[in-house]
Amino acid sequence: MLLQLLSLSVVFISGISAEYKNYDGFKILEVNFQNPRVRKYIQEIDKNLGFMPDFLGENWKQKQAHYFIDKDSVENVKTNLASNNITYQMRDVNPQIFKVRRRRDINGAITINDVNNRYLSYDEQMQFLNSIAQQYPNDVKLQKIGNSYEGRSLNAVRIGDDGSSKPIVWIDAGVHAREWISYNVALYLVYTIVSQPAYRDLLNAVQLVVVPNTNPDGYEYSRTNDRMWRKTRSRFSNGRCSGADANRNYPFFWGTQGVSHSQCSEIYCGSRPQSEPEVMALTNAIQREETRIKGYIALHSYGQEILYPWGHTMRTYPSDVQDLIQVGKAMAAAIRAVNNTDYNVVNSGDGLYPAAGASDDWAKSRGIKYSYTIELSPIDDYTGFSLPEDRINQVCREAFQAIQVLMIEVRSKFSIRQTTSSASSTSAQSSLLLKRMRTAVRGSGRG
Ligand code: ARG
Ligand code: ZN
Repeated sequence: MLLQLLSLSVVFISGISAEYKNYDGFKILEVNFQNPRVRKYIQEIDKNLGFMPDFLGENWKQKQAHYFIDKDSVENVKTNLASNNITYQMRDVNPQIFKVRRRRDINGAITINDVNNRYLSYDEQMQFLNSIAQQYPNDVKLQKIGNSYEGRSLNAVRIGDDGSSKPIVWIDAGVHAREWISYNVALYLVYTIVSQPAYRDLLNAVQLVVVPNTNPDGYEYSRTNDRMWRKTRSRFSNGRCSGADANRNYPFFWGTQGVSHSQCSEIYCGSRPQSEPEVMALTNAIQREETRIKGYIALHSYGQEILYPWGHTMRTYPSDVQDLIQVGKAMAAAIRAVNNTDYNVVNSGDGLYPAAGASDDWAKSRGIKYSYTIELSPIDDYTGFSLPEDRINQVCREAFQAIQVLMIEVRSKFSIRQTTSSASSTSAQSSLLLKRMRTAVRGSGRG
């Protein structure tokens, strides 16, 4: 069912909310896990500490894991690490991160300039999509796929849907509320691919479906109440805490490893598979056309990683893992060509931790060949989920290139509408792509 989104009234919020959750005294624990003994400690950090600290992300270049430690646990954690002979850093959190910069929503159109330069509210995101749908009515259709727990509309953007059965690449963003950069990347993708004629050919052969905000309740909560909010906002019976980790709620090895069954945990897997209406909506929407979906990417942050299945456990891979690695590497190469940014291609379970019930594994289990999670920037500073707004555009441009590589690969493997040569190997495709990109960067007018 297609719908015209409501034109949303402009919400004015001014000043800094007094209720914004205070994180004074919280620290970022940084542990270098190069040493196998430390790695083992980290892999069982919940048992070692007696609680599961909130994992933020990792710096794979330095082999450092980052955890968020609440102020009342800092001393205990230090003692525990010291008695286990683990070297670590306790870093102060940059207080800027917790400053609510809730700008007034601008009374007027949201443009690509906004997407490139600031984090938007959910309403602004929807306004932006509406305006694109109006501007490109033949190319862009907005499809409501369900409602969030609090009743916000979950929308898919269908690009290049001409009623044919061409292969689909599916991108979704922001299942974790605090990973703000992912939303901008999804919106940038929608805008760029429809507004630039260079992508016509690709869209003729491959359809794109983008769900730019898979957790609008959590996102709004992270914008207005708690910057570090990760989960959905659902309420469970007898619940002391709200929300489940929607990326532990998918029905594949649900509830097994790297999850918690207690409601207050950041990695609470929910009361049952698909207990979260957001996950129910996404799985239903994907299943309706799963035989056509050949590529899937869940956009997350942070860590600059391209993760491939399986992720529910360690050292377990799909039989076509070499294809996933090959395309993953081509995506990383395309990112690197933009501004030399390094993304690591790694199995999601063998990275720092397995996590069951995630969307990438589920998508792969449904037969979607190229299924990934991308952890976007940053890696090299401590801004984490609050990547400074002046870096939004670069991350968008990089991720766009990676997604384009996946679409090209899907075209070459699955589309009946091939263009140009019959080159089908990934390396041929990506080197062709890289060549084109270099030409584009040089500003040559060649098609
Ligand atoms: N940071 C993501 C999460 O914790 C990574 C998920 C990777 N996929 C996986 N199946 N483990 O949800
Ligand atoms: Zn995430």
